[in-house]
Amino acid sequence: MSLHGRLTLHPAFRIAPVRPRTFGAFVEHMGRCVYTGIFEPGHPRADSDGLRTDVLELTRELGVSAVRYPGGNFVSGYRWEDGVGPVEERPARRDLAWHSTEPNTFGVDEFMSWTEGADVEPMMAVNLGTRGIEEAVDLLEYCNGEAGTALADQRVRNGRTEPYGIRMWCLGNEMDGPWQLGHVPAEDYARLAAGTARAMRRAEEDLELIGCGSSHWAMDTFGDWERAVLEASYDEIDMISAHVYHQERDGDSASYLAVADDMDGYIDAVVATCDHVRGSLKRDKRIMISFDEWNVINTEGDTGEEPSGKDWPVAPRFAESTYTAQDAVVLGSLLISLLRHSDRVASASLAQLVNVLAPIRTEPGGSAWRQTIFHPFALTSKHASGDVLRPQIDSPTFENRRFGTSAVLDAACTWDEEAGELTVFAVNRSLEEPLALEVPLEGFGDLTLVEGTMLHESDRHARNTAEAPDAVVPRPLPDARLDDSSVTATLPPVSWTMLRLQATAL
Ligand code: AHR
Repeated sequence: MSLHGRLTLHPAFRIAPVRPRTFGAFVEHMGRCVYTGIFEPGHPRADSDGLRTDVLELTRELGVSAVRYPGGNFVSGYRWEDGVGPVEERPARRDLAWHSTEPNTFGVDEFMSWTEGADVEPMMAVNLGTRGIEEAVDLLEYCNGEAGTALADQRVRNGRTEPYGIRMWCLGNEMDGPWQLGHVPAEDYARLAAGTARAMRRAEEDLELIGCGSSHWAMDTFGDWERAVLEASYDEIDMISAHVYHQERDGDSASYLAVADDMDGYIDAVVATCDHVRGSLKRDKRIMISFDEWNVINTEGDTGEEPSGKDWPVAPRFAESTYTAQDAVVLGSLLISLLRHSDRVASASLAQLVNVLAPIRTEPGGSAWRQTIFHPFALTSKHASGDVLRPQIDSPTFENRRFGTSAVLDAACTWDEEAGELTVFAVNRSLEEPLALEVPLEGFGDLTLVEGTMLHESDRHARNTAEAPDAVVPRPLPDARLDDSSVTATLPPVSWTMLRLQATAL
């Protein structure tokens, strides 16, 4: 074996507490995420509200914390009023974002029931594309108002007496993108976002408000967009959004395996812009990042096509990536990037949750199963606890077209001092070579190795399907051991690993 890597850790090198909201997800009215995804009246596993209990169980197992809703591009043309009240009176509408028909049989109240069943926090987006301040404060009143005014009373009539108490609100979606309904130049959006935030805060002071950042940092307007939004709304918002989807292009697996480098650079650039504006405005408050759309994409084997406006289907099958073991490793590496930025990334949403670019897949009337990317997400969300530590990573490097030189080994570590739990999340991003990992652990006292788990397949293109839902699952890391206060293990090529250690004497 030729590759060796080392992680040097110390409990004093803390970045920030692990934030449960790092493990959020996203439910959009897009494709089959809602209809035949989380909601399918008549399905053998649906409850009396039409919510699929098999999907609820998998969502809880995934360890999702907060779920953003209802879009995405969809929200920029959405009329939330269409989706509340007696179902038989709700209108079907054209969804201009996805050229689909929106039946509106699932809306805010159904979503809120679903969040209760899934045990997740709601994160609501308002339409600043075709609508504006009035719609945002109306929706806020409908959701959070005490009975006694028109819209809160409407909610009560619809069966929900107590306010929902939704804290996190997104001020529109990807308003920098020319594809977005109601897309406007930065200054116009900045003014609208600031005005909306001010109005919403007049209703409720302590909301957590998220302004739209760029829809990707490759956008021509990246940086200038963030600056304009922040200058207009610095005092009104708490977070600014970031979005990214990574995929292997032209068979360039080496660059794909390294895309966490891109996420690191993206986050650092947004932080720099936030802090530049903080300095120029002379404020104490720091703006945090809501990475409220992130994922990998795998278009190979996609069966459906995005509707083009010819037929306006309901819940069309498209953007249903079927992920490989390699995709799962890359997803694990992106979570490592998010964890190491826990000092500034306050919330993140894996986009999306079911069927559309999703860790959970369903068949209408049929089964629900875990895609490969489900596993690193579920294990990280379950076992990352306490504080994120900053490891010194000594690693060999590999060349790739996109980033030039990248480290083979990447890792994040969490230390829960109270529970005595140390967890290491690591990836070997080499396409061919195993990596001998060494983690000296002086400074943590006596530890035992509880678990060494990896996500790796000799065929990195292996996938989970309805017929073989457990083809790719986490497996024990064969030679993980703890000797003389160092953990050692061999990380296979293209692998994601979790090592869990427990303090023996507290
Ligand atoms: O998640 C799919 C789409 O990607 C979202 O609707 C949009 O916000 C992004 O461009």
